[in-house]
Amino acid sequence: MKKNNRVLKATAVSPANIAFIKYWGQKDSKLILPCNNSISMNIDNCLTTTTVEFSPKYKRDIVKIKFFGEKEKERKGRRTNQLLTQVDRFRKMAEIDWKVKILSRNSFPSDAGIADSASAFSALTFALTKALGLEFNKKELSIQTRLAGSGSACRSIIDGFAEWKKGNSSHSSYAVQIADEDHWSLADIVVVVNQQLKEVSSWRGHQLAETSFYFKARLKELPERVKKTRQAIKTKNFELLGQMIEQDAVSMHFITMTSKPPVFYWNGTTLDIIQALRRWRKNGLLGYFTIDAGPNVHVICQQKDIKTLERKLKRISGVKFTIINKPCRGARIVRKHLF
Ligand code: PMV
Repeated sequence: MKKNNRVLKATAVSPANIAFIKYWGQKDSKLILPCNNSISMNIDNCLTTTTVEFSPKYKRDIVKIKFFGEKEKERKGRRTNQLLTQVDRFRKMAEIDWKVKILSRNSFPSDAGIADSASAFSALTFALTKALGLEFNKKELSIQTRLAGSGSACRSIIDGFAEWKKGNSSHSSYAVQIADEDHWSLADIVVVVNQQLKEVSSWRGHQLAETSFYFKARLKELPERVKKTRQAIKTKNFELLGQMIEQDAVSMHFITMTSKPPVFYWNGTTLDIIQALRRWRKNGLLGYFTIDAGPNVHVICQQKDIKTLERKLKRISGVKFTIINKPCRGARIVRKHLF
């Protein structure tokens, strides 16, 4: 890390990412060290923009969030505390005690069940480094982002397709690029089937993972699946990628359903979509599912099939709406501030 001039105000934009191989289970919950490598693609229609400003004119820390379609509002609670814990770590590094104002804005509906923690924590972390004149390379930035609490955020720092290497210490656990955003014209159709907040947070899910009798079996088969997924991306082998992401999504949800206590994230429509995709594939229309810690389905497809798949998906009873995403760059600094 290099110390530069502090500009004290900076803005970053960062995407959410969809995991092809899921991070599920932690070796160390303080350092956010995962039990396995994970692989993801950044998604371009699910962005968070964050402006931070440090100034003696602020008498207290202020965190405002503008969710999509809602008014900008000061927020308190767990999320705000997590953001401010990250701010405190950076204040210490920069040896500054000025208060901060943070304004964050999401480009996607907060009720779409797409976790905005990856985009939010990566945008915040990048903006903080710039404002405080702390210069990190990509590896260090990924590590600093991981430490904010939502581990998957460390993958949003990287452009395009990323692999988070689990490592065995804070220094060796970070994301690297597999391919950039222009490498492969894939798409992620987010199919929203339920707009409620998830009942069990991924944080709790990570803690429960090890209580599943099958968790060890998952960890054993993962290195091979990670290798094949990495290969599928590099060689643009869509069918192999599809098989791997479906295997991994089912494996993760098998762990949640067999944890003690069990957690069921799917609903009936989730299963209807899975069945429909399998039927359509028999007729040559290729879309593969993956599912995070909620009931909504991410359909991974080739861009040429977006329209057909979207039309068919929207006809399934229980589907509320869809969001089309393409691969995109990771976190970046922009000139235009939100305030
Ligand atoms: O980074 P967290 O703590 O929000 O956990 C992410 C968990 C999943 O989204 C289900 C999987 C992943 O790798 O993104």
